[in-house]
Amino acid sequence: MSWEKGERIYDGKGKRVYALKGHNDVLLQEFKNQLTAFNAVKVSELDGKGELNCLITTAIFKFLGEKHIPTHFVEQTSTTSWVTKKLDMIPLEVVVRNILAGSTAKKFAIEEGTPLEKPLVEFYYKKDELNDPFISDEQALMMKAAQSQKDLDTLKSYALAVNKALIEFFHKCGIKLVDFKLEFGVSMDGQIMLGDEISPDSCRLWDEITNEKLDKDRFRRDLGQVKEKYQEVWTRIQKEWSSYV
Ligand code: TMP
Ligand code: ASP
Repeated sequence: MSWEKGERIYDGKGKRVYALKGHNDVLLQEFKNQLTAFNAVKVSELDGKGELNCLITTAIFKFLGEKHIPTHFVEQTSTTSWVTKKLDMIPLEVVVRNILAGSTAKKFAIEEGTPLEKPLVEFYYKKDELNDPFISDEQALMMKAAQSQKDLDTLKSYALAVNKALIEFFHKCGIKLVDFKLEFGVSMDGQIMLGDEISPDSCRLWDEITNEKLDKDRFRRDLGQVKEKYQEVWTRIQKEWSSYV
């Protein structure tokens, strides 16, 4: 399919989104080299980061599609761009944790790296001015972030299905899936589906043997070798999941 780029609709932290001429139900998304953390308080450019995230997220979305998880993925159009279905985004970040790290480890003063008995699903309200606060189910309904408890339950069950699939995906690559963030939206025909991206920007990924961090915490915590570790994730995916690359 050949696509003609239309007007720019949105310039986000990690991606630029364009209309596609003659199509009302799809979008072109280009992955940026910009790296941000702490709600863009910390910003940097990393040559080749957009390409690595695009390649990694495309492989993952293809894999999730085969696991019957509805996603916005339509087609990869270059090493830095893909075409997706147009979604009306739900203003919630859905975080799944298998091992405690980051904000929830800090909040409850539990040592980072503590495994959880079962995966924890959390919602955060997407609002930059408020710094994306944690939000309960009842608060999410009050804020009309979701239309019903049934929709929130759908988000949780998709998030757990993604988690199960991705634990398998990354385990084959010798990587522990510590936690990750998902975003969902509603398609033009009213279906809730997975949008946004899944990449080392939006996951915590640790080497299974050494616990070395292979994700954006390298940037957040000034650990260095950010690009090298994103590249390491992509190299392992290419080797183990060649049918999705
Ligand atoms: P947290 O421990 O900071 O709450 O992050 C949980 C996971 O969500 C972690 O894998 C990083 C990811 N994440 C994002 O992708 N975007 C965000 O804005 C935040 C706060 C976290
Ligand atoms: N996603 C947020 C940002 O890009 C926060 C983070 O990932 O640390 O600024």
